[in-house]
Amino acid sequence: MTILSGTARLAGITGWPVRHSRSPRLHGFWLERYGIDGAYVPLPIAPADFPAAVRGLMLAGFAGVNVTIPHKVAAFAICDEVDESARRAGAVNTLVFGNGKIIGSNTDGWGFLENLRAHGVDPAAGPALILGAGGAARAVAAVLLSLGVRVTLANRTRARAEALARELPGLTLIDWDQRDHALPGNALLVNTTSLGMAGHSPVEIGLDRGARGLTVADIVYVPLETPLLAAARARQIRAVEGLGMLLYQAVPGFRAWFGVDPAVDEALRRFVAADLLAA
Ligand code: ATR
Repeated sequence: MTILSGTARLAGITGWPVRHSRSPRLHGFWLERYGIDGAYVPLPIAPADFPAAVRGLMLAGFAGVNVTIPHKVAAFAICDEVDESARRAGAVNTLVFGNGKIIGSNTDGWGFLENLRAHGVDPAAGPALILGAGGAARAVAAVLLSLGVRVTLANRTRARAEALARELPGLTLIDWDQRDHALPGNALLVNTTSLGMAGHSPVEIGLDRGARGLTVADIVYVPLETPLLAAARARQIRAVEGLGMLLYQAVPGFRAWFGVDPAVDEALRRFVAADLLAA
């Protein structure tokens, strides 16, 4: 238990519910590692209260907050300023308070890229196939498109993919049952659906059709090794687990609120993973 001073820096995670969030553990690890006079706390806020609660946190002296489900789109709307990452994603996961202003960004796409790079994967090495059309799919598709990557997307509900394609010019859509057929031309396969999550059925896709040099990335991190990643590894296909994206997306917020550029390393990964395994 850290004892705070009267000038401690404060941040936290807003969500509803928020009790499953690993962010307090993740930021808490860094606060302790760097001996920072600060705290990062869970902030359960009901949707109807979100705008007033965030203004209240700012007035109470918080340096900023992370935003998770279901507030990411609402957070975009209450910002005084948003950066390019937030505009592209249409949602915000990091708020920084400064001079009475709420400044929003979305670090999910950056976190996704940094995690790939940490695994030695160049995200722009070739075309990408994304499965899913939710908020995470949008963040990943948007950031890959911004790098000039050719992106194809398949979602079970075609209308949802079409809505996304209207927001992200350049996205190519295919039907969900065409994913096997589309796989061979891609350097990167990304699962952003909830398939493969503990309690859900696995992603079904014929990895044997994958091109040489294919990388398979999952954004699901419970379990750490999803059936899709296990199937990739069994075929000597490079597999990138989703936990790294969670760790990296936290970096820009921590830096902005606490003034230290925190390292994502094996000790952090093990600390957060231990909590996932215990759950
Ligand atoms: P998020 O915003 O966090 O990405 P989401 O909005 O709940 O999450 O999206 C979940 C994704 O998983 C969607 O793309 C969903 O497909 P639909 O748009 O058709 O609902 C996908 N998904 C969930 N269960 C699925 C299943 N059994 N088969 C195929 N896709 C599934």
